[in-house]
Amino acid sequence: MEKLIVTGGASLTGTINVSGSKNSSLPILAATLLTEDQCVIRRVPDVSDTNYMLQILSQLGAEVERASGNVVVTAKEVSHETPYDIVRKMRASVCMMGPLVARLGRANVSLPGGCVIGDRPIDLHLRALKELGAEVEVKGGYVIIRVPHGLQGKEINLRGKFGSTVLGTDNLMMAATLSKGTTIIEGAAAEPEVVDLADFLNKMGAKVSGAGTRRVEVEGVGELHGAEHTVIPDRIEAGTFLVAAAMAAGSNLRVHRLRADHLTAVIDTLRACGHEIEVSGESTTVRRTESPRGTRIRTGPFPEFPTDMQAQMTALFVVSDGISTVVDTVFPERFMHVPELQRMGAVIERQGNTAIVEGGQPLTGAPVMASDLRASAALVLAALRAEGETQINRLYHIDRGYEHIDEKLISAGAVMRRERV
Ligand code: EPU
Repeated sequence: MEKLIVTGGASLTGTINVSGSKNSSLPILAATLLTEDQCVIRRVPDVSDTNYMLQILSQLGAEVERASGNVVVTAKEVSHETPYDIVRKMRASVCMMGPLVARLGRANVSLPGGCVIGDRPIDLHLRALKELGAEVEVKGGYVIIRVPHGLQGKEINLRGKFGSTVLGTDNLMMAATLSKGTTIIEGAAAEPEVVDLADFLNKMGAKVSGAGTRRVEVEGVGELHGAEHTVIPDRIEAGTFLVAAAMAAGSNLRVHRLRADHLTAVIDTLRACGHEIEVSGESTTVRRTESPRGTRIRTGPFPEFPTDMQAQMTALFVVSDGISTVVDTVFPERFMHVPELQRMGAVIERQGNTAIVEGGQPLTGAPVMASDLRASAALVLAALRAEGETQINRLYHIDRGYEHIDEKLISAGAVMRRERV
């Protein structure tokens, strides 16, 4: 196991390049199972979640090659069973269900189990597959899906009590590509990663329209073929660096290779805090104000404020003047970072799905524990600003979704090192 030791106080300057999106890469890699042909996926970030996904593809029988961000998958033969030992490590493995059911008419996918960011059911995924004609049974920790009479497209309302579902929309879109007739997904997730998957599916010969809106239409086709695709920039990694610059005193940082139109809610919030943000093509520059003020955020489905940026923004509010309010409507329990930030001196009160931050407090370095991917990122940001040294334990959480985060921050002036524990 490794820990990250950060010495606070350095400013961030220069340029940091954003990697390809983890959350786009995962379903797109799963979608390569929809064809026997070779698929080439570019800019897949080298993070442990994409490595788990490639391991699953290999275990299912696909040939997988990876070299400098490019992944080549050829799934001539595919088995229908995804093993528990990998699925338990990565919840996103549930997005194997759609492609396996479409390609083979059956899938045994291990149930992902608990998740530290809260209860994460897959009822909507299963309901959608049933509506297409699948039979679903949960037995021995596995979801066993069979399609006795083929998948048949229909109109499906995918809205849940917490809004739309990203991977649920992905699963349904993938299953519908090879179904008979047309599937209409009402209440679809409109996240940029869903649009990226739809683009890839269309390159494979699928007929998906409306991705990026709440109503997606998929006209089933007989078969899909191989395709090449470059995944979109990781908007959450990009947003994390924008917030890092707003956090570390004296910063003037250019974040390059991002899509500012995917980050409107984050950029608007940074501006509301008083930071100067300049968007120019693929680059966004943050000039930190030395008298930042807090504001309020409420997470929601895209284009609302992303839950995956909530922890990082909470850390920023700790060092911004005034009272800030953070409401997470998507994952109401996602506040694992709060007690750790409190150990560094933050004054935060949690009330259900809301955190109230009394800002403008000095942070001091402390040993802290990473708990999930984005909570860990928030701790790294707080550490950049804290006085003295912060030790972030269980670093593997951050390596799940950030490609070389320490190297990127060090290149911009941060002071940190990894140590084996
Ligand atoms: N939900 C249900 N039933 C379902 C599915 C979801 O009630 O069948 C609920 C969830 O419990 C949650 C809400 O619906 O309250 C939204 O969950 P969603 O299904 O959209 O989440 P996901 O698709 O499993 C993806 C990202 C998450 C991100 C969420 C929300 C990937 C691989 N994961 O998860 O990313 O937080 O969408 O935007 O794309 C991360 O990268 O750190 C991460 C957790």
